[in-house]
Amino acid sequence: MRPTNASTSCARTSRSDYPSSSSELVVFTPRTLAVPAAAATLDAVPQIFQRSTNTLSRLSIFGALFAFAGALWGLAVVNRSGYATQQGVAREQPIQFSHKHHAGELGIDCRYCHTQVESAAYAGIPPTATCMNCHSQIWSDSPTLEPVRASWRAGTPLHWIKVHDLPDFVYFNHGIHVQKGVACETCHGRVDRMNQVWQETSLQMEWCLGCHRDPGPNVRPREHVFDFGWTPPGAAHAGGVAAAVAHDVQPRTDCTTCHR
Ligand code: HEC
Ligand code: HEC
Ligand code: HEC
Ligand code: HEC
Ligand code: HEC
Repeated sequence: MRPTNASTSCARTSRSDYPSSSSELVVFTPRTLAVPAAAATLDAVPQIFQRSTNTLSRLSIFGALFAFAGALWGLAVVNRSGYATQQGVAREQPIQFSHKHHAGELGIDCRYCHTQVESAAYAGIPPTATCMNCHSQIWSDSPTLEPVRASWRAGTPLHWIKVHDLPDFVYFNHGIHVQKGVACETCHGRVDRMNQVWQETSLQMEWCLGCHRDPGPNVRPREHVFDFGWTPPGAAHAGGVAAAVAHDVQPRTDCTTCHR
């Protein structure tokens, strides 16, 4: 199917000199533009494909690109979704212990139960004995509290289901955050209103880094770390930045800060 008047001449002046079929084959790749001799070789290749094939192949290349981009986007969405991060999913616990009731309404301080939160890496989950401080007297017959009493009698701990769980290769420390003025609320949300605790934030690396890069707006005077619904007097950002300066806040972003 070689075009009859296929020619290597560069002297042709108008497109109409080309036979209509071969004109569609002239593709101006950098090679054909730069080296006319190469164009000649191209010209000599018999035309096998129809014009529509060009469009088709372009379409399929773009189609594949779009499909690939779409798949990546889909993955990213799933990766950030509550499904993957368990964000916003309340956990069933062995006992219907309510933070809304104990911390919010009764006003028991977080530190009464999470005793180490200011000084240690782990905030700690209270032992049954802490519950029994009150529940040996208050609601001591409540059937809801029978698992607590059973745990107390047998001396076996209650098996609370973890809500927040970073991978083992990540190092996190509560003490430093609390001391530098990052509030429980900032990372855990309105625990004082939760009947069952859920994970308020994604806990993904970009979330940690977002604050480490710009801690100012997320830091408050230390005495307000355990407050909920606290708003800084004046502009939020300025207040945070002032607290950040006062506490000499300089979070690090190098990898070994969190991966050691
Ligand atoms: C009377 C004891 C008590 C008090 C007071 C209390 N907590 Fe808790 N907290 C618990 C118990 C028990 C659990 C484990 C069961 C659960 O997740 O609900 C828990 C779990 C949590 C968790 C989820 C832990 C996980 O598994 O990831 C967070 C976050 C938390 N508490 C924050 C707070 C904050 C913030 C306060 C103060 C506003 C507070 N708690 C006050 C007893 C208490
Ligand atoms: C400082 C005292 C105090 C501590 C400590 C405490 N509670 Fe309570 N709890 C109360 C009071 C007061 C009530 C309910 C009174 C009411 O209904 O208004 C209550 C109610 C409850 C109820 C609901 C009971 C029912 O029958 O509806 C459960 C469940 C419960 N607490 C679990 C726990 C667990 C588990 C712990 C330990 C992690 C704990 N509490 C620690 C004071 C306490
Ligand atoms: C900078 C964010 C941040 C702040 C501020 C913060 N937490 Fe946490 N908290 C976390 C992360 C992340 C985890 C999960 C840790 C893990 O899986 O190793 C966690 C876990 C917990 C747990 C489960 C037990 C544990 O230590 O793993 C409790 C309870 C808890 N936090 C209570 C609190 C309380 C109370 C405060 C406020 C005094 C607070 N947290 C402040 C991020 C934070
Ligand atoms: C809302 C703000 C905020 C978030 C979110 C946050 N951090 Fe921090 N982080 C800080 C501040 C502020 C400091 C204290 C910096 C300093 O020492 O001045 C800190 C310090 C630390 C340190 C101690 C670094 C050292 O110098 O030893 C570690 C480790 C750390 N963060 C890990 C994490 C991890 C892991 C996460 C996510 C799960 C996280 N942080 C999320 C604000 C944040
Ligand atoms: C402020 C804390 C922090 C710093 C700094 C940090 N990471 Fe991470 N990194 C995390 C957390 C938290 C996770 C777990 C994320 C999750 O479970 O989704 C993580 C996960 C990862 C993972 C596992 C893949 C993933 O995305 O889940 C890799 C790889 C990683 N980090 C590499 C790095 C490197 C390289 C650096 C330095 C440029 C770095 N990290 C700095 C907190 C941090």
